[in-house]
Amino acid sequence: MTDRYAVFGNPIGHSKSPAIHAAFAAQARQSLTYEAILAPLDGFAKAVADFAAAGGRGANVTVPFKEEAHRLATRLTPRAVRAGAVNTLSFETEGIVGDNTDGAGLVTDIDQNLAFPLAGRRVLLLGAGGAARGALGPLLDAGIAQLTVANRSPGRAHELARLFAAHGNVVGCGLGEIAGSFDLVINATSASLAGEALILPAGTYAPGALAYDMMYGPSGTPFLAAASRQGAARIADGLGMLVEQAAEAFLHWRGIRPDTAPVLADLRARISAP
Ligand code: ATR
Repeated sequence: MTDRYAVFGNPIGHSKSPAIHAAFAAQARQSLTYEAILAPLDGFAKAVADFAAAGGRGANVTVPFKEEAHRLATRLTPRAVRAGAVNTLSFETEGIVGDNTDGAGLVTDIDQNLAFPLAGRRVLLLGAGGAARGALGPLLDAGIAQLTVANRSPGRAHELARLFAAHGNVVGCGLGEIAGSFDLVINATSASLAGEALILPAGTYAPGALAYDMMYGPSGTPFLAAASRQGAARIADGLGMLVEQAAEAFLHWRGIRPDTAPVLADLRARISAP
């Protein structure tokens, strides 16, 4: 029987994960199927249980179910514990294993695809929701020198900084309290979804700085457009992170790390096509 995988979300119609995993499977000559499943907002656990009962081997989880997936898992990987959210499930005989590959995907995209070494960098992380939290551990592990978490609601940023204090040099502040220059500024807020840009103080971008948006779109994002105007030397959207988190999930399930470069290039070409 062909091994079945899926991504669960709501909405899920525009998910690129089925195409990404189909490309990985073809490349690695793995026989598997990967589908997108729309789970009702109040029916995630049942949808996952039905899929596992029907022979599902694993699943990705996206908005808004990552925290629920964290609770559903019977065993968590250490990075899923730290992230407080799960984007990758494996249905094992022992139970449901929950992993989180988002932060690893972000770090791989920046460090390797963008050839922007993270070690020693001063990093500003905008946002303190689930997307930001998943990035903290992997960024600190990558050897960055200093991490400032800035959030519209300052209390959530302070809370994240406190949670990760043992893992590195991390401080929290409000968006209006950002001070200093940074080599890397990462947007992990959902402000772009509302079409809003985040205006940062002059001098936030150090010479040579990279502005990175976890979001992506055919014509860039409001954050990246503002970053260019505000002096970022380089900008990058989150398409690479999407492909890299998928590769990390594929490795977790199949024991093979796919070559992401051709898959990312193909996705980029299709997104940019009119
Ligand atoms: P996710 O799981 O995608 O991170 P979330 O937990 O709802 O989603 O968090 C959304 C993040 O975007 C939060 O940091 C939120 O700030 P608050 O904690 O103050 O709500 C941030 N955010 C959303 N809209 C924003 C906006 N228009 N300007 C600035 N920050 C915004």
